Amino acid sequence: MKKILSYIWPITSRFPSEINGTLEVTYYNGKKVLDTKNANYSYGSLQKILEFGLAKVDLKNVENLLLLGMGGGSIIHSLRNIFEYSENLVAVEIDPAIIKLAKEEFGITSSEKLQIIEEDAFQFVKNANQKFQLIIIDLFIDTKVPPIFFAKEFCENISKMLQKNSSIIFNVGINLERDSKAIETVTSNFGSDIEFQVYPKVNCTNTLLIGTKCLR
Ligand SMILES: C[S@@+](CC[C@H](N)C(=O)[O-])C[C@H]1O[C@@H](n2cnc3c(N)ncnc32)[C@H](O)[C@@H]1O
Repeated sequence: MKKILSYIWPITSRFPSEINGTLEVTYYNGKKVLDTKNANYSYGSLQKILEFGLAKVDLKNVENLLLLGMGGGSIIHSLRNIFEYSENLVAVEIDPAIIKLAKEEFGITSSEKLQIIEEDAFQFVKNANQKFQLIIIDLFIDTKVPPIFFAKEFCENISKMLQKNSSIIFNVGINLERDSKAIETVTSNFGSDIEFQVYPKVNCTNTLLIGTKCLR
């Protein structure tokens, strides 16, 4: 019924989160999206931005994929249903309220091929000893990427977790868009064996960095 009514009028339910402020699940034209006060988090424009990135990387050799910032899990949905990625996926998310919504509103739950880890991505990356062939970094609090995720320590730790011939998709949002020096600094923080392509204004908004760890 909610779904049918949503074609006439969007229907929004609100949920409190200590980390992300008020979270909104809105039924709009028969589709549910997850938003914060000022940003779409999942199943809307954000999903399209990450899908643009996924179309640019080769998923054939990816056996272990790390998603930092699970949100409502829209890109997990795209990976499984559009990109036919059926291998292992580790999703890290700091906010228990979001993990609950991902499960109850969007049907995203742990399984044999999906580990959902409730942890700060910074700490996870610092302590991890697993290797990945693709790392998606999609870490936001409302419209902003916390600056710690642009700094050297985090970027270097990400590089160490990548196998050779592997990729990073980093959604840097709109913060860095007008500052090419800042983008240069962030990409150099990953080290010289990762080569980046910069895609500004993906879906008319966010900048995506796509990095490849070369075979050298
Ligand atoms: C834009 S949403 C992610 C959307 C998701 N990738 C998807 O496909 O639907 C950003 C997420 O980053 C999470 N986040 C922010 N800071 C974090 C941190 N320090 N560690 C882990 N997750 C964090 C937020 O709680 C939020 O769920």
